[in-house]
Amino acid sequence: MAEIVMELKDIKKFFGNTQVIHDVSFQVQKGDFVTLLGPSGCGKTTILRMIAGFYEPDGGTIRLAGRQIEHIPPYKRNTAMVFQEYALFPHLTVYENVAYGLHVRNLDESKVKQRVNDALKLMQLKGMGDRYPNQMSGGQQQRVAVARALVMKPDVLLLDEPLSNLDAKLRESVRVELRAIQRDMGLTTIYVTHDQQEALSMSDSVIIMQKGHLHQQGTPHEIYFAPRTPFVADFIGTTNLVEVEGTNALIVTYGDTTLMADAVCPAGTVTLSIRPESIRLADTEDEAAAENVLPVQVAYSMFLGEKVRYFLKDATGREWLADIFDPGRRIFEGDVWMYFRADRTHVITESAV
Ligand SMILES: Nc1ncnc2c1ncn2[C@@H]1O[C@H](COP(=O)(O)OP(=O)(O)OP(=O)(O)O)[C@@H](O)[C@H]1O
Ligand SMILES: [Mg+2]
Repeated sequence: MAEIVMELKDIKKFFGNTQVIHDVSFQVQKGDFVTLLGPSGCGKTTILRMIAGFYEPDGGTIRLAGRQIEHIPPYKRNTAMVFQEYALFPHLTVYENVAYGLHVRNLDESKVKQRVNDALKLMQLKGMGDRYPNQMSGGQQQRVAVARALVMKPDVLLLDEPLSNLDAKLRESVRVELRAIQRDMGLTTIYVTHDQQEALSMSDSVIIMQKGHLHQQGTPHEIYFAPRTPFVADFIGTTNLVEVEGTNALIVTYGDTTLMADAVCPAGTVTLSIRPESIRLADTEDEAAAENVLPVQVAYSMFLGEKVRYFLKDATGREWLADIFDPGRRIFEGDVWMYFRADRTHVITESAV
């Protein structure tokens, strides 16, 4: 069993009378890369700040490396945070910025030099140690901020959108680099991003938040294929959320037809999630090779190169999205049949949190 290095339990936070964090609980295993993902204003930065000690929670506990830390000051916690606005010291050089925390800890100068130079190299900032922050681009400053946090070898590294100012290409290479460094150093990391691809590709564990509530924590695979709430299903990727009537069996009723789900659906209204890429199209009902087949009309289609996205309408008037990959030159039009396998459906058990 992996060791749990950090645990938040029932964390609450108010600003004035407004509650912005609602009983958030999660655990982080040692060495894991955990991503907090959610819309703007959902509370990601507030959570990082409470872990780092810049805000005190109004309820709940935070444990880090065996200590309860929610009321102890930031400098007595072994955390390091890279802020969304990356706040470098303007009057210090890049080298001095990165070395700052180590000097505060009175580390031996030769060790400081080695750690700082290693970190600068890792962040592709070699040779820039003598510059001042105002002589660097936004993306370079962001990398200095990451280097400054890395050198501290914290119990947990807190990164708040640290790559947001990098262009797509550099962002991808720094992302790969950062993940490799994090793995090598066994550095437990909590990472905040808006970018779903980044979250899915980098993380051991993803936490999805909305309006201060934690919806789900899971591996990228679990979050994508087994979303617990409609919000998670819709936030990660794109999906068709369909309300059906369950019958305590695999069969569910949808309008005048029946569909087969991947799991037993309780009686009553349940939501099925079916991803656009799980849907196929055929000209005739006979060609449709799956458990679930529906006649639909193509309302609109968009050619996107590697795929065609179809906007379909079924007999109930509901719209479905279907992504057909490797479409060749074939574009479906008019009345067609849509089909999908039962094991590509996912029953969403909770309506909200
Ligand atoms: N110091 C503060 N005083 C009052 N309200 C605040 C304060 N800091 C944050 N908030 C509010 O708390 C909520 C959560 O903010 P937070 O900064 O944690 O969001 P976020 O998820 O990091 O968003 P973003 O993705 O835009 O950075 C927001 O509604 C925000 O307006
Ligand atoms: Mg934020």
